[in-house]
This record gives sequence, structure tokens and C-alpha cells, in this order.
Amino acid sequence: MERIYFDYAATSPVHPEVIEVVHDAMINHFGNASSIHHLGRDSRRMMDNAKKVFADSIGAKPNEIVLTSGGTESDNTAIIETAFAREKEGKHIVTTVIEHHAVLKPMDYLEKLGFEITYLSVDKYGMIDLEVLKEALREDTILVSIMYGNNEVGSLSAIKSIGEIIVESVSTAYFHTDAVQAYGLESIDVKKESIDLLSTSSHKISGPKGIGFLYINEAIHLPSFMLGGEQEMKRRAGTENIPAIVGFQKAVEIAQLTKESRRNEYDSFSHRLIQRLNDQKVDFEINGHPDSRLKHIINIWFKGVSSEKLLLLMDLSGLAISAGSACTAGNIDPSHVLIAMYGKESQRVKESVRISFGIDTTMKSIDYLVTELIKLTNKLKK
Ligand SMILES: Cc1ncc(COP(=O)(O)O)c(C=O)c1O
Repeated sequence: MERIYFDYAATSPVHPEVIEVVHDAMINHFGNASSIHHLGRDSRRMMDNAKKVFADSIGAKPNEIVLTSGGTESDNTAIIETAFAREKEGKHIVTTVIEHHAVLKPMDYLEKLGFEITYLSVDKYGMIDLEVLKEALREDTILVSIMYGNNEVGSLSAIKSIGEIIVESVSTAYFHTDAVQAYGLESIDVKKESIDLLSTSSHKISGPKGIGFLYINEAIHLPSFMLGGEQEMKRRAGTENIPAIVGFQKAVEIAQLTKESRRNEYDSFSHRLIQRLNDQKVDFEINGHPDSRLKHIINIWFKGVSSEKLLLLMDLSGLAISAGSACTAGNIDPSHVLIAMYGKESQRVKESVRISFGIDTTMKSIDYLVTELIKLTNKLKK
């Protein structure tokens, strides 16, 4: 049986060219980047080159890049360290109800410590109301954390407008955005979009797992989340993982070079999928914003079809897709994103699946996917 992967938003296979550079670095560049001898200097040079690539990819400077273990650590650092560093200026933070748990859980934590969190709701497209954001900003607002693109339904936030609203507001809030899903596919410019803090993760763009970066505007000083050595200009303690860093660099270089072609390709995958479902008169609707959305994610409500059952049958057909936001010990939790968009009583919450594309997706695999979707949704339909 053929096995085809359609869950790139969860994680992605490592690109063959990335594997090559990781392999080479593991053998030939094992020095500790803090060591003074030639092996240490070699690792530092490689790390500095990588940081230049990361910085250029978002319009930042290399000294504004802090290497982390990925999206979760970047989000946690941005949120918790901002709160601790600025609590004397204010204890109010603004975020949205559809953030990833790597943002929502730190918010819960801070709330228990006495911070006040305003959660902005979203409409049926997964978009916040910019007027409500304006009204939420106060003199004591120290941080706004709004994701660049949603990991479940793909809706893209109006990042530039949000940045402008924050700059023009009475607050001096830092603007953090979780760009874990958008990085590598969207054109991000932190200066033009007034972003102060931005989280990325390598494993979403066919780089190695356990590596990412947090962009921190050079005007901002945040203490290290990890306590220990003085790496990363005292902003992130711990010996740097050179093979993972250069692997991530390679993944970013490939993503930059192929961005436009992948965007067009993913668009044509979505169109084909939708067209064939329509041709076969499948009863479905797309969740999320129709235009302003990440190209690699498509979230579909198959009316009257349990997403859990569909996912299991698809798996038996060799197709890996996703339903709900998290899978804990085999249970699919109802998605907090779909609940926020449609209400917890909506059938969509139980009947939607996420399909996501990446480096190995082809039109042929899309055709197989749709054929199975048509067959299995017909079989499962109540
Ligand atoms: C939007 C978003 N933020 C954060 C994360 C966490 O990133 P990581 O797995 O690198 O810790 C993910 C991963 O699913 C994500 O999709």
C-alpha cells in the first residue's frame, strides 16, 4: 500500500539536501561554538552565517536572531520574558482565542501570576476585529501576541495593520507574532510590519526538529529563559546545536528559493481538490478565510461525516491527514480554533479535517487523496 503524507502542518519530512549538511556538520563541525580553538571558531563561523540567512529572510539584523529549540520555546520566551521584564510598566496582555497552545498555555500561567489577559475573539473566518483590538489596547498593555497564520484553518492575520494599530495606540506594547506556520511561505518583513518579536520553527519547513529562532528587535532586552552559560549574547543559555542550525539554514535557503513556485503549486492542489469534490457532489465547506490564508493548509468540513472515523479510514488507506488540534493518548480533542469560529455545538467541530501540503506533495498524490476522500465520506455519511 502506498503511504502518502498530508500532515505537513504537524511536521514535515527533512529535505534530502538538509540531511546532507546535517550529516556533514555532525562529522566535521562538532566544535563548541564558545571554544576559542579552531574547532570552536569553525562552529561559530557556521552559526554566524546561518544567523545572517535567518535575519535576511525576515528583514532583520543577525544580532536580532536568538536560536531556540523551536516554536514552543520561542513563544514561551517572548511571552513570559516580556511579562517579567515589563511588569512594572503594566500587567495587561492582549492575544487571541485561536493561538497555538505554545502561546495560550504561557498566557494561563501568567494569568495565575496576576497578569490580566484579554483574549480577542474571531469571526467565522478566523479573523479578529481590528476595531476591537484598538479598543483593547491600554497604557498598561505590555504585549500583544497574535499569530501570523493559523495552524489549523490557515487564516492569515492582518499583520501589517495590527502592527500599525499597536504603534499608533496609547500603549507601548511589544508586538509578538507566532509565525511558525507562515515562515517559509509568506513574505515576512519585521520592520515593515512593526513586529518586535517573531517565533519560527525549523521542522515545519523540512528542516530538523528541535531548532528554531526568536527574532527580538534590537531595541528590546529580554532576559534568558534558560539559565546557564552566556551563549546567544546572554539571551539563551546552552551549547548551540550546530548540525541542527546549519540544517535549518539549508531548509530556509531552499524555502526562499522555491517560495513562489510552491505557493502556486499549493494553490493548484487546493483548486483541484475542491473542483473534484464539487464534481462528485460531495457535501463540504472550507473552514477559514477563503482568500487570506496559508497556501499549504486546507481545512474541510465534510457534512455528516465524523472526522475521527474519516481520519482512521484514511490512515488505513495509507493517507495521513489530521483532525482537531491535538491528539493526546489517541484521543482527538475538539479543536479550540473551530469552536472559537463556529461555536462548540456546531457539527463542524466534529466533522472537519485538515489537509496540508509540502515538499513531496504531487498532483498525482492529490488525485489519490480525493478519490479516497470521495469513497470514504460516502461510506461514512450519516
Ligand atoms: C502555530 C504554531 N506555533 C507553535 C508551534 C510549536 O512549535 P514546535 O513544535 O517547534 O515547538 C506549532 C507546532 O505545531 C505551531 O503550529
